[in-house]
Amino acid sequence: MSSPFQPALPEPLLRERLPAAWNGLPDRARVEAAVAQALDAVARNLAHFGDAFPMPSSVGGIYPAMDNTEWTNGFWTGMLWLSHELGGGEVFRAAAERHVASFDARQRDRIATNHHDLGFLYSLSCVAGYKLTGSERARDAALGAARLLLERFLPNAGIIQAWGDLHDPAQRGRMIIDCNLNLPLLYWASDTSGDLRFRDAADRHIAQAARHIVRADGSTFHTFFFDGESGQPREGKTHQGHADDSCWARGQAWGIAGFALVARHNGDTRLLQLSKVLANYYLNRLPADGICHWDLVFTDGTQERDSSAAAVAACGLLELARNLPLLDPLRAEYERAAAGMVLTLSEQYFAHDGAPGAGLLRHAVYHMPNHVGVDESCIWGDYFYLEALLRLTRIWEPYW
Ligand code: GLY
Repeated sequence: MSSPFQPALPEPLLRERLPAAWNGLPDRARVEAAVAQALDAVARNLAHFGDAFPMPSSVGGIYPAMDNTEWTNGFWTGMLWLSHELGGGEVFRAAAERHVASFDARQRDRIATNHHDLGFLYSLSCVAGYKLTGSERARDAALGAARLLLERFLPNAGIIQAWGDLHDPAQRGRMIIDCNLNLPLLYWASDTSGDLRFRDAADRHIAQAARHIVRADGSTFHTFFFDGESGQPREGKTHQGHADDSCWARGQAWGIAGFALVARHNGDTRLLQLSKVLANYYLNRLPADGICHWDLVFTDGTQERDSSAAAVAACGLLELARNLPLLDPLRAEYERAAAGMVLTLSEQYFAHDGAPGAGLLRHAVYHMPNHVGVDESCIWGDYFYLEALLRLTRIWEPYW
C-alpha cells in the first residue's frame, strides 16, 4: 500500500478577483424566478422527448433525441426527479419512474455499461428513485449497477478503471477525476446491502485520486495511469483539457464536488481540505463574470466558457460549505460564490426559449480537443444547474 495522503493548505482565496455582484446574500425572488424558468423549460422538454433522452450535448442549441445508451442519460432522469422535488408535479415523477424501468433493463442486459460512469447513470435515476419512492425495483437496479462498477476495480492499483475493456492496453490502469462522482453509488451499495467490498473499493480509489490526480499546486490532472499489474503510478495525462500540464475546468469542478461528496460518505475530513484546495485554485482563476473558461489555464475572457463546469462547481461549493464547521471562514465565502455563480448562469447563460428540445444553459463545452459540443448546451450542465437551484432553496438530501 502507498503512504497516506496529506493535503496541503489551500492557496489564499483572492476575494477581489470574484465579481462584486456576488457579495451579499442571494436574493430570494431572483432564485425563485430562476426555478420557475427552469421548471418551465424541463416541462417543455419532457413533452418533446417523451420517454426518449436528450443527447449529451446540443446541436445549434437543440438536443437531438436518443435511447438509453450514453453515459449521460441519468442526468435527464435526475432532472425529472429534481423537478418533482421542486414542486413541478406528478408528471415528472411518472416519467422518472418509467425511466427506472429502462435503467433496470440496461444494467441487466449490460447495454453500454463497459465504463465507470455507472454512478452518474444510476445515482441520479435509480438511487434517486429508491430514496424518493422506496421502489424495490430501483434499489435492485442500482445495486446491479454497483456490482458492474465494482468489476472495474483493479486491486493492485487500487483504482476503478475509467473506460473500455479491462485488458485494453490503451485504457488499462487509467483513472480519471470524473470518477469521484461515481463513488457515491458504491458507498450507497454498501450501506443498503451490508457488503463492505463496495465501500473498500471506493475508499481505495479516492485515496489514489488524492495522492496522484491532485497536483502540488492544487490543480488536477484529468486522467492518471497506473501499471495494472504492479500497481505502480505512471503518469498524468489530459483527455479533454488543453494540455497534460493544464487544468481542465470541468475536471477541477468534478474534484471539488466529488471529494466533498465522498467525505460525506466516509467521514474523512482530509477530503474536505482537499476540496478546499481545489476550490480556491478554481475560484482564483475565473474571468470577470465568474463563469470559467473550459480550461483554467485561460483567464482573460477570450476563450470559450464552460457553463456546465460552473454549474458542477456551484454544487460542489454548496456541498463543501454544508460539510464545513460553522466557524470555518471559507464556509460563507463558498456559499456566496456558489449563489453568485448560479444567479449569473440564470441571468446571463440561460438559453431555453421555448423551442422543443432546447438546452437550459448555453456556452458549455463537451470535448474541445475532439471539437464536440463546443459552445453548446450539455445535459450535465443543465442537471447541475437545477441541483444547485434546489440546494439554494432548501436543505437537500443528495441522490449521490
Ligand atoms: N465525464 C465526462 C465529461 O465531463 O465530459
